[in-house]
Amino acid sequence: MKAMASAEQIQTAAQAIRDGRLVVFPTETVYGLGADAGNEEAVARIFAAKGRPADNPLIVHLESIAWAEAVVDRLPPVAGVLFERFSPGPLTLVLPAHPSLPGIVTAGLDTVAVRIPSHPVARALLASCGRPVAAPSANRSGEPSPTTVGMARASLERGLVSSVGGESGGITYIDGGPCEVGLESTVAAVSGRRVVILRPGSIGADDLQRAVPDAQIADAPSVDRIDRPVSPGLKHGHYRPGATVIAHDPQDESPDRLRSRILRTVPEGRATVGVIGIAPTAVRIAAEIGRAAGRPGNRRPAETNQGLVREAADAREYAHNLYRWFVELDGQGCEAIVAILPPDQGVGRALRDRITRAAGG
Ligand code: TXA
Ligand code: MG
Repeated sequence: MKAMASAEQIQTAAQAIRDGRLVVFPTETVYGLGADAGNEEAVARIFAAKGRPADNPLIVHLESIAWAEAVVDRLPPVAGVLFERFSPGPLTLVLPAHPSLPGIVTAGLDTVAVRIPSHPVARALLASCGRPVAAPSANRSGEPSPTTVGMARASLERGLVSSVGGESGGITYIDGGPCEVGLESTVAAVSGRRVVILRPGSIGADDLQRAVPDAQIADAPSVDRIDRPVSPGLKHGHYRPGATVIAHDPQDESPDRLRSRILRTVPEGRATVGVIGIAPTAVRIAAEIGRAAGRPGNRRPAETNQGLVREAADAREYAHNLYRWFVELDGQGCEAIVAILPPDQGVGRALRDRITRAAGG
């Protein structure tokens, strides 16, 4: 059950946006850190609160497709069809930017990323403030995206040097319960009839292709080997918890090889290891790590136990929990988290992308 914010809380938050202040709000993917997209100073506060490099552009959130004309120069017909089919929902399209949009939002590019979120609280906030809201995920740059308001607060407060009046550094937080999807939206660039997926998400290339059969869809590259970078052009250091994430593909790597990799990763003493994945693989891998620890000649143990294992029923549930599990296992003192890569299909592709990046891949 979703904790619903009150109408009064939403009005207060909407006023904060209009006043040029920051609001943490739930979406169906992850929590966002929002500001009035037309207010340069407000948007600058987002970059400061996150410690985000200025060359990384933001997603502009709209209440409906009718708002697009304020931020988009021309809406390509293919984009119109995709928004009709998938919005409100976890699809972000990169489109020609309206010249009036502040350059800080787009990091100086001539394109802008826009999306229409489906979470009722996000929709109520947008409707109430009446203007496009620029919002990245509500975490310090490089950390896992928050899927609860508590994760957002903990991450942003770690970055708070001094409390600038108001509550929590002037940021207003709205609680909308845990985010349903748990991974960030699919980001796709549209130009003419060509659609290129820049960041995989729960909406895949095949979903897009079905909606626009005669468009040319280029999928995000798949991660078929864990030791190869997903998208070499993209920056690393994303989605990382404090513990070292070890991406493990059970198709590619034996338990013994995994164990030596864990011990290479954790330089001294005993390695306390969390294991996450889809049932029944996570429990099996955890047991194998434990068995390897007991073998003669294995002087340095890599240990895990039931309390450090998290197992999802399927890929959707894995996506829903991934970032929360990273943060929880960190909090339980894990030095390493073995994240088992799911098969490369459906939301599995997005999971493989985020896990590989978290592992520094
Ligand atoms: O689900 C989501 O998309 C969440 C919620 C809050 O909506 N937002 C989110 O924002 O994940 P952020 O800033 O963490 O990620 C935005 C991604 C970045 O990879 C950024 O580089 C890309 O979108 N992006 C934004 N504008 C772009 C543009 N004009 N061209 C290419 N990529 C762009
Ligand atoms: Mg982010």
